Amino acid sequence: MAGLSDTAGATRILLVIGGGIAAYKSLDLIRRLKERGYAVRAILTAAAAEFVTPLSVAALTGERAFQNLFDLTDEHDVGHIRLARDADLVLIAPATADLLAKMANGLANDLASTALIATTARVLAAPAMNPTMWAHPATRRNVARLEADGVSFVGPAEGLMAERGESGLGRMSEPLEIVAAAEALLRPTGAPGLSGSLAGRRVLVTSGPTHEPIDPVRVLANRSSGRQGHAIAAAAARAGGEVTLISGPVAIPDPAGVTVVRVETAREMLNAVEAALPADLGVFAAAVADWRVADGAAQKIKKGAGGPPALTLVENPDILATVARGLRRPALVVGFAAETENVVEHARGKLARKGADMIVANDVSPASGVMGGDSNTVHIVTQDGVEDWPALSKAEVAERLVSRLAALLGPV
Ligand code: C5P
Repeated sequence: MAGLSDTAGATRILLVIGGGIAAYKSLDLIRRLKERGYAVRAILTAAAAEFVTPLSVAALTGERAFQNLFDLTDEHDVGHIRLARDADLVLIAPATADLLAKMANGLANDLASTALIATTARVLAAPAMNPTMWAHPATRRNVARLEADGVSFVGPAEGLMAERGESGLGRMSEPLEIVAAAEALLRPTGAPGLSGSLAGRRVLVTSGPTHEPIDPVRVLANRSSGRQGHAIAAAAARAGGEVTLISGPVAIPDPAGVTVVRVETAREMLNAVEAALPADLGVFAAAVADWRVADGAAQKIKKGAGGPPALTLVENPDILATVARGLRRPALVVGFAAETENVVEHARGKLARKGADMIVANDVSPASGVMGGDSNTVHIVTQDGVEDWPALSKAEVAERLVSRLAALLGPV
């Protein structure tokens, strides 16, 4: 049997693969974990083996795929207790409704569920299921119970389902997001004495859209998903920063190791940002609404004979400019510029107008697929010039950006 000698000393991850269509992503997940030097062992449930073959899993992990509780060879070589104990982190991806239910109730009737109850390691679950199953009161109960038991979750994300025409909350998070969440758990952030390129630094990140009320039930909003800003907050936390994320309304999970402040409107966001100062680094990735309705109606505006209401808009405070020009300005201030044309030219203008040190410019025209999507092509605009980065995942943009900013800040 292939031992772990080649990865001796490596952090060990036990991956439990549940039986769902998202299981195909677990193969990429193994690859990403191995790339980062983790030793990975995988357990396949019986249902998982219907979706991915044990052979593919074995080829990628470099170990056999563990499948049976009563397999004499497995029990002789490793054993379910050792499988569970020899892990620094147990990762369940995809975590199906069935696996969550078993775990929440302490069932142990196959290798996966037995390993899950036999482990003392941190457990991270990446749920994947149909949105109706995710929303079901039984699943809600199981997730709440697991959270109370200390299980961490990454996702699920919102998006199209395998079932034709269905969409909603239930898609498994992308492998890189799962890796990021795993790394955050393996290297708890904000802990005293933590080393990392942002250790000892206070970081402030804004993310998501703002919602500006028209009346108690209607809002002016935009299509920002918060993915890029949240990825930056997560990367900054992994780099050891003490991160406060101020987020408008989003449908994505909170990043691990970050203090999250939720707001609705631009004015609330400005207040929350000011309350979070001082900071060493401010990254303003939120898509703040430029305008709000002058006098939001106290009651729902009714359709009537007078025709549609005329909405008077007034300008919102510019949070980035206010902070960049304020007395408590962070040492490094980064803005974003989402444009649909002349991307770099507009970013140069913003750099000067808003008083930022760097503008991360991206093309958000519908054809780019950036809004709500997983990837981003950005241009880094500073006084020194423009750097064009290749198309990267939002997680990769975040990693690179955080390393760049940490280098610019230098040691504490
Ligand atoms: O002017 P524009 O909205 O394109 O500027 C984008 C940058 O300014 C982003 O970094 C955004 O977070 C920030 N901004 C802000 N407050 C506003 C408008 C934009 O912080 N009211």
